[in-house]
Amino acid sequence: MTSALQSGKAARYPYLEVGELAEAIAAKEGVPVDHIVLAVGSGEILETLGVHFGLAKKAVVRGDPGYLQMSAAAKAVGGRDVPVAVNARLEHDLDAMLAQVGADTGVVYLANPNNPTGTVVPSAQIRDFVHQVGRKALVVVDEAYLDIADDYAGRTVVDLVRKGENVIVLRTFSKIYGLAGLRVGYGVAAPALVSLIKSYGGGSLSYLGVAAALASLRETGYVLAARERLVAERAKLTDALKALGLRYAEPQANFVFFRTGRPYADVAGRFRADGVAIARAFPPLLDWVRVSIGTPEENTLARDSLRGIFAQS
Ligand SMILES: Cc1ncc(COP(=O)(O)O)c(C=O)c1O
Repeated sequence: MTSALQSGKAARYPYLEVGELAEAIAAKEGVPVDHIVLAVGSGEILETLGVHFGLAKKAVVRGDPGYLQMSAAAKAVGGRDVPVAVNARLEHDLDAMLAQVGADTGVVYLANPNNPTGTVVPSAQIRDFVHQVGRKALVVVDEAYLDIADDYAGRTVVDLVRKGENVIVLRTFSKIYGLAGLRVGYGVAAPALVSLIKSYGGGSLSYLGVAAALASLRETGYVLAARERLVAERAKLTDALKALGLRYAEPQANFVFFRTGRPYADVAGRFRADGVAIARAFPPLLDWVRVSIGTPEENTLARDSLRGIFAQS
């Protein structure tokens, strides 16, 4: 039994602890607590913003392939999805995205690193982009995977919130902190945007999720050690891909996106037969697949399967 259950705390709503978590996050991000909106996973904020702009019949400009939670929510309530193809390096094409921003654009979504490609956009380019686009539309910079990237401090744009740019930065405890099942994420934004998001209600955080998030913020060494383990395991996968001559996008998250040159369903089926579940298909790149880094045993299984599928051909 956990201490939380022993002390009977999970029998109560975690109002005090939620406040404590918001304060701890505000201190970490260097903003007043009214700049923090907590959520049941950062995806909840993506959905709220999607619904908000969708109801206003606005467009969501986003990279393609990309993470669809916000654009799907917007489309469901009458908004428009504007996918913009990634460039040849499979990075967000900021010029092409900028060209799509018009009077009916509500929000521009930039996941950095991107899912599923795993690539990052240089910080200076994101900064320019936020400055230019921000005059016309809100920019959502989703840094869900940024703790895993090679230069978190040099790449985060959370300081742009402090500078008053029209941007919200999203983070989650689901990735490097390993708490996906406990559902805690947050946004850092100007107080007016925080209030707007909160006005939609949103879900209630669980006591266990809040307790785990608070504990992991205090364990500052954990993220560094987890990142080191993850990057070492990811390198084994990219080494295997190199040896097989398979092209991959430069990975900066906890997965690798690579080109198989074969139909998605065939490749996914072969992996599945070996007990490896790869990510869904990401149209229009249907001869690319995304494989996530798991436990060392799972990673070994995935590499063995990969070699079995691609070595003989
Ligand atoms: C880019 C990106 N943003 C946000 C999320 C949502 O994560 P969560 O709701 O667990 O915080 C995910 C989940 O896979 C993701 O890939």
